[in-house]
Amino acid sequence: MNSLAKENMNIAVESLNKISETDLADLCNITEQAIRAGGGFGWLTIPPVETLKKYWNGLILIKSNILIVGRLNGTIAGASQISFYPSNNEAQKNISKIQSHFVAPWARGYGLAKAMIDRAIEISKENNKKSIQLDIRETQSAAIQLFENKGFSKWGENPSYAFINGTRIKGYYYFKDL
Ligand SMILES: CC(C)(COP(=O)(O)OP(=O)(O)OC[C@H]1O[C@@H](n2cnc3c(N)ncnc32)[C@H](O)[C@@H]1OP(=O)(O)O)[C@@H](O)C(=O)NCCC(=O)NCCS
Repeated sequence: MNSLAKENMNIAVESLNKISETDLADLCNITEQAIRAGGGFGWLTIPPVETLKKYWNGLILIKSNILIVGRLNGTIAGASQISFYPSNNEAQKNISKIQSHFVAPWARGYGLAKAMIDRAIEISKENNKKSIQLDIRETQSAAIQLFENKGFSKWGENPSYAFINGTRIKGYYYFKDL
């Protein structure tokens, strides 16, 4: 149960092409919290804060990536990334991918993840994408439920998607046509 009353929560979602010092600190904090919670972000151990800063600052320089952030009462509490294929890949130019979609543990349950998916879909449509796709570890059950409820369909599995502490983890592949 969330200790913060939902009616006192203001949710906002936006895409960022510049990161202020405050937002950078918030992004680094929530990344650490998500990694600690076992979280869908690729990292299994917390890297030094300088590495996290370079990661976020580097991300917004990549033209084919869009960083979406979710704010609870102004503070960044979740993030999601959309990426497009490079321009040489004409066959896949109408596809966008969602990656590293997560919400800090203290901000879960307020609808932030759903709102970020809605924004990712809007941005994909604005960019003439016809299908939005993602892959996810089988162990991320909340996210699997979330994307399935948002109309994403599972089309495949990779039995050797990831290895965590020596254990082989399956990956699930999803798409949603727009
Ligand atoms: C998955 C995650 C993003 C959900 O964030 P959130 O802000 O709590 O989600 P929202 O409040 O917007 O939406 C809640 C929905 O998520 C799903 N969900 C959230 N927690 C769940 C849980 N414990 N079990 C099952 N479904 C869950 C449900 O579909 C729920 O909808 P409902 O309330 O109508 O049942 C968050 O738990 C998270 O960051 N997990 C770790 C990272 C991760 O797995 N990322 C995916 C990599 S692509």
